[in-house]
Amino acid sequence: MNPAAPSPSPTGALTLAQEKQVAAAAALRWVRDGMLLGLGTGSTSAQFIIQLGAAVQNGLKVQGTATSMASEALARQLGIPLVEPRRGLRFDLAVDGADELDGQLRLIKGGGGALLREKVLETASNYLLVIGDSSKLVPVLGRFPLPLEVVPFALPWVLDAVEALGGAPVVRMAQSGAADYYLSDQKNLIVDCHFGQITDAEQLATRLKTIPGIVEHGLFLGLAKAAIVVRDGAALVLRP
Ligand code: 5RP
Repeated sequence: MNPAAPSPSPTGALTLAQEKQVAAAAALRWVRDGMLLGLGTGSTSAQFIIQLGAAVQNGLKVQGTATSMASEALARQLGIPLVEPRRGLRFDLAVDGADELDGQLRLIKGGGGALLREKVLETASNYLLVIGDSSKLVPVLGRFPLPLEVVPFALPWVLDAVEALGGAPVVRMAQSGAADYYLSDQKNLIVDCHFGQITDAEQLATRLKTIPGIVEHGLFLGLAKAAIVVRDGAALVLRP
């Protein structure tokens, strides 16, 4: 199937997988020759990387750095030239998915466990463009549990501290039913925290930053400059 032109279901509605393709195709139109790109992680970002790879095969000249080992492997396989992190490196455009975004383009990220590298790279980007299917836009953040990346030694105290903040933490497992913890690319743990509706994301982010052992949290505030979400089969551009 041509990823830029997904076929609708028999009811005419796009599936979420097809919506991701539509969002990725719309994001590709923001890419220009010569750009240095930040490449996100997750199923929506993978669609973008696949379509970017096809454009590179057709002569588009870009370079990128990936936010996870999985995205890096995909980009490498598709022939997208990759750049190693170095001092002074800034990205023209980062394109990444999100687990949730609200109308002000505050994000919850980390469902794919890549929140630390995503936040590092997207903070080093001049423009973060978020792409998502129709399920991602929410009135208030918090239905999706907030991921935290946690140093393994600190886990017991981080769990205590998160509960003291009113959260319900769950340590992510390698797979459902597995006995092993999931490990991030940095070999840290991911703790998924239910806080209910997050009505003051800025305050929660500030408090989480004070807990020793939390390397990063999945609230991305003030980073996204635009988002492309799909509604009724069409890509809509949102700005904060
Ligand atoms: C990975 C992320 C992803 O962007 C987020 O989980 C969305 O993933 P998907 O596009 O598969 O829904 O933050 O850490």
